[in-house]
Amino acid sequence: MHTYSLLAHAKINLYLEVIGDRPDGYHELAMVLQSIDLADRIDLRANGTNRIQVHCDHPQVPTDERNLAYKAAALMTEEFPDTFSQFGGIDITIHKRIPVEAGLAGGSCNGAAVLVGLDLMWKLGLTQIELQELGAKLGSDVPFCIAGGTAIATGRGEQLSPLPSLEDMYAVLAKYQSLSVSTGWAYQTYRQQFGEAYVSNRQDLLGRRQRVHSGSMVAAISHRNNEQIAQLLHNDLERVVLPAQPRVAQLKKAMQQLNPLGVMMSGSGSTVFALANSRAQAETLRSQLQQQLADPDLGIWVTRFTANGIQLIR
Ligand code: C5P
Repeated sequence: MHTYSLLAHAKINLYLEVIGDRPDGYHELAMVLQSIDLADRIDLRANGTNRIQVHCDHPQVPTDERNLAYKAAALMTEEFPDTFSQFGGIDITIHKRIPVEAGLAGGSCNGAAVLVGLDLMWKLGLTQIELQELGAKLGSDVPFCIAGGTAIATGRGEQLSPLPSLEDMYAVLAKYQSLSVSTGWAYQTYRQQFGEAYVSNRQDLLGRRQRVHSGSMVAAISHRNNEQIAQLLHNDLERVVLPAQPRVAQLKKAMQQLNPLGVMMSGSGSTVFALANSRAQAETLRSQLQQQLADPDLGIWVTRFTANGIQLIR
């Protein structure tokens, strides 16, 4: 049986608002998510055993049950036991390009790629909605990673409304390689510090969700107004991550001094991104930032917005 190779695209958050608590212990969020062309490659191959094996050359990526790609495969074997016994176990190889624990959904998109890849390999014919429902069991960002593009995400982040795609925009990502932020920590700390202001009644909750749908960020996206999109960037989690991680705050300041369209932290960090109108502008920002900070620990990536989530390449 041949190898299925898929590209799993990273995301950035153009908008992230924490609205309140949920009965399941997660947070009610209102977000606008955007796929970028920075991607991991995931190879799936039947291995003739009854086991799932994950291979990855990145030292920070676990290859056991903790890996979302592993969890995705395990979920598929539980959901489709007859197909699993017919096709047998699989080797999953992750070629890591997306920085780890960076607020870019690197783990989630690997899980998404395994769901999409096994659906193809096992000829299950699942719809995108069915794949996204499975994805939501693995993590809040997995459904978006399957769909890709530009979308509003509410609920835990799994309820999606697609928006017009934005492909003429670039994001320069910067991250200190040695600095990671745990998403769980960021939300827990946010709750401790700002939980008193959480919306608690259902009517207000629905109102806040609606505000994003009819809000200025979505209008700016519909008009493909890059300058306005950049001005409206927002991320509530900066309120806890920037004070706790002064290097992330300094990085954001250094990027702002270069006068890009806009600068924001992605997800729970520690990646900070700057927006640009063209690849040339983005490349200039990259070299200016490299010169200004001259730190070998700093990773910088020039990326373009994309409409793709998971892409089969072979
Ligand atoms: O869903 P995922 O596993 O990616 O979430 C990681 C952690 O982030 C959760 O364990 C939870 O602490 C926090 N989280 C949250 N509310 C969300 C999404 C994530 O509190 N909507």
